[in-house]
Amino acid sequence: KPVIFSGMQPSSDSLHLGNYIGALTQWVGMQQTFDAYFCVVNLHAITVAQDPAELAERTRATAAQYIAAGIDPDQSTLFVQSHVPAHAELAWVLNTITGFGEASRMTQFKDKSIRHGADKASVGLFTYPILMAADILLYQADTVPVGEDQRQHVELTRDLAERFNSRYGQTFTVPKPQILKETAKIYDLQNPTAKMSKSAATEAGLLKILDDPKVTAKKIMRAVTDADGEIRFDRETKPGVSNLLTIFAVLSGRTVESIEREFEGRGYGDLKKALAEVVTDTFTPIRERTNELLTDPAELDRLLARAADRANSVAQETLNTVYDRFGLLRR
Ligand code: TYM
Repeated sequence: KPVIFSGMQPSSDSLHLGNYIGALTQWVGMQQTFDAYFCVVNLHAITVAQDPAELAERTRATAAQYIAAGIDPDQSTLFVQSHVPAHAELAWVLNTITGFGEASRMTQFKDKSIRHGADKASVGLFTYPILMAADILLYQADTVPVGEDQRQHVELTRDLAERFNSRYGQTFTVPKPQILKETAKIYDLQNPTAKMSKSAATEAGLLKILDDPKVTAKKIMRAVTDADGEIRFDRETKPGVSNLLTIFAVLSGRTVESIEREFEGRGYGDLKKALAEVVTDTFTPIRERTNELLTDPAELDRLLARAADRANSVAQETLNTVYDRFGLLRR
């Protein structure tokens, strides 16, 4: 079976609709046909300061949300990044073949470092994409299902894999990103030209899986639209309405056209009310199942440990080859 690898940071109290649509739903659909690795990337999360107790809790909660959304831990390898030391070890080696200029061109680093203050951003934040390359390459992944914001990082991963292979001999599979056109970028409900993100200035435009349904409905009813009053998809001139239509279509399995037709001549309030129902119907079972799973953290930890063993044996094999190629003595 071809291999897929993907991951999310446990850096928020809940995954959001962008994570769900851009990544998680894709993963669920792919896990049967691929040898799938889904990682909770806690080493990535610490590139900006985290509260330790919260990070631990959110790491379990993220794993629980994967399962609750439909990742089957018996079928897929669902594990925590820090449980497999090879991620940090390969990242170090890859650091040594990455150009400073090359790393400096990563737009997500530029955005994030501006937000944290250029001089205050950690070196870890700077080398973050190289750790991500290590994640992917350790498992010889063919495909990396992600949202649009991760495209440049997967491109860097490809460059590093090709460079390594040509300098040191065939070692890594060169992975391809899988970014679905319609769902690659879900926008903030308050600022519909910016991507929905946990680091937005306010949470008013952020739909969180674990939010109370009343909160979710309220955020949708207050979503920014426009003044012309027509329910029609047009990303350029009607970004707010277009985002609502995209979300509606993806979650209901309908086409945008059929939704436009249903709401022809009706107001935004009607569309929002119907959308709030679709979103809360999607989130409610996931939230309930997540909370259920979190009542037994010991069981969750057992499951993650088992997956870590599996991941570790694959990752270690790749790392051994890398060490041999570099002339790094192995014990
Ligand atoms: P993270 O945790 O920021 O996001 C997890 C996934 O959600 C997608 N996503 C979105 N998709 C559509 N619209 C949005 N508004 C939106 N917001 C987030 C992201 O594209 C991502 O797929 N660097 C990664 C984590 C990572 C990783 C990896 C991913 C670490 N190692 C290896 C793939 C393979 C990140 O920070 O994602």
